[in-house]
Amino acid sequence: MSRRKQIYEGKAKILYEGPEPGTLIQYFKDDATAFNAQKKATLDGKGVLNNRISEYMMLRLGEIGIPTHFIKRVNMREQLIKKVEIIPLEVICRNVAAGTMSKRLGIEEGEKLPRSIVEFCLKRDDLGDPLLAEEHIHAFGWATQDELDEIIGMTLRINDFMLGLFAGIGIRLIDFKIEFGRLATPDGHQVVLADEISPDSCRLWDSETDKKLDKDRFRRDLGDVTEAYNEVAMRLGIIKPNPGTPPNLSVVTGDK
Ligand code: TYD
Repeated sequence: MSRRKQIYEGKAKILYEGPEPGTLIQYFKDDATAFNAQKKATLDGKGVLNNRISEYMMLRLGEIGIPTHFIKRVNMREQLIKKVEIIPLEVICRNVAAGTMSKRLGIEEGEKLPRSIVEFCLKRDDLGDPLLAEEHIHAFGWATQDELDEIIGMTLRINDFMLGLFAGIGIRLIDFKIEFGRLATPDGHQVVLADEISPDSCRLWDSETDKKLDKDRFRRDLGDVTEAYNEVAMRLGIIKPNPGTPPNLSVVTGDK
């Protein structure tokens, strides 16, 4: 039995009521799903790593002036966040062709795109998150023109920042998915970065070897999924290598 009221349970996270009005607790599960939840598994320690990696990304992005829902990490699997109204869009930014873009447009995976591309999908699992034109977003009122302009501007800034951050630790940022929410303010609302940024929602390839360090290891049965997430956390300097033993989760789970 949970001590708090559960607000929502998604595929990889649970939201609970927070300690103050306007706050929520975001709990990171070890569950992994792919292909619209047709493939499922539990990956020991994934939630702990994603909580830490997402905390790190939100803090760094906050430092460059991107407004986010993040307040603070409270323990190994939970973070305190601001309650927002999620805009029902999966905002995808791509630097290199991969995944559905390669399939849809016949562009070989790994081909560098002529420029970074921002795409929108509707957040509807029952429909398989269909790709949208901006026209759909306006016509159906999922976001206003002003909100969309802000979302695109922030997404490109986030991409530039993350490209540099990952390049500095020998990782290529192939693509990523982010979500935005509306945060109530005294005179209306503000669009803020919400959800998470982790190897579940990014494609990250080692710059030297092209080794995948993200959820494609799970999608494509490449094995060593949490080891790859651990590698990302270690290169970011979030967790320390354990001298004498191979990188493993005891490193993370020993930490609060
Ligand atoms: P994409 O290639 O469109 O889909 P798939 O992951 O099914 O091949 O995904 C682009 C990036 O966005 C990739 O890093 C995964 C991420 N993403 C999510 O995390 N959740 C989603 O619902 C979608 C559509 C993408």
